[in-house]
Amino acid sequence: MQTMPNQRPLRFSLWLLPLLGLLLLAGCGDDDSGSTPEAGTLDKVWSYDRIKACADCHSPAGGGTGASNGPDLSTPAKFRNNLLGASIDSYPGWNTTQDCSTTSFPWITESTPNKSALLAAVSWKWAEGNTNCEGTYSFHQPNNAIDNVPGLLADLELWIENGANP
Ligand code: HEC
Repeated sequence: MQTMPNQRPLRFSLWLLPLLGLLLLAGCGDDDSGSTPEAGTLDKVWSYDRIKACADCHSPAGGGTGASNGPDLSTPAKFRNNLLGASIDSYPGWNTTQDCSTTSFPWITESTPNKSALLAAVSWKWAEGNTNCEGTYSFHQPNNAIDNVPGLLADLELWIENGANP
C-alpha cells in the first residue's frame, strides 16, 4: 500500500519524456537552419575558406601579385558584382598575361555555367581542353584552385545555374 503514492509521480514523468524529446529536436532544428546556408546560394559559395582566400590576391590589399587593377573579390557582393557579366575587357588596367574571358565569354553568365569563364579559371574540370583557359588555370593550381575542395565546384556551378543571385 505504501508504494502507491510513489508510483503516481513516476507515471506522470514518463508521459512527459516524449514531449521533452520533441521540444529538444525542434530547438536543434532551428539552430541548424540559422547556420547552414542553402545549396545554390551566394552564402553557400562563401561558406568555403577557399573562396574567401581569393581576396589574398584579388583585392586592393592583395595587390602586387599580378592581380592588381583586376576585380576586387573581397566580399560576397563584390565577388558577384565584379564578375557577373564582366571580363578582362572591363579592367583595362589589369596587366594579365593569360586571360581567357572576353566580352562574349564573361567570368559569370547568369544561369549558364558553360558560358562562365570563371569556372575555367579556377577548375581543371572546366579548363582542360580549353586552350585559352588552361594558361589562366595554371596561375591558380593547385592551392588556389577549387577542385580539391570537396563540394565547392558543385556549389559554384549550382549558384550560377540558379541565376547567380545576390
Ligand atoms: C596567389 C594569388 C591568387 C589567388 C589566391 C587567386 N588568384 Fe585568380 N588570378 C591570379 C593571377 C596572378 C591572375 C592573372 C593571371 C594572368 O596574368 O592572366 C588571376 C586571374 C584570375 C581571373 C581572370 C581569368 C581570366 O582568364 O580572365 C579570375 C576570374 C580569377 N583569377 C579568379 C580567382 C578566384 C575566384 C580565386 C579564388 C578561388 C582566385 N582567383 C584566387 C592570382 C590569384
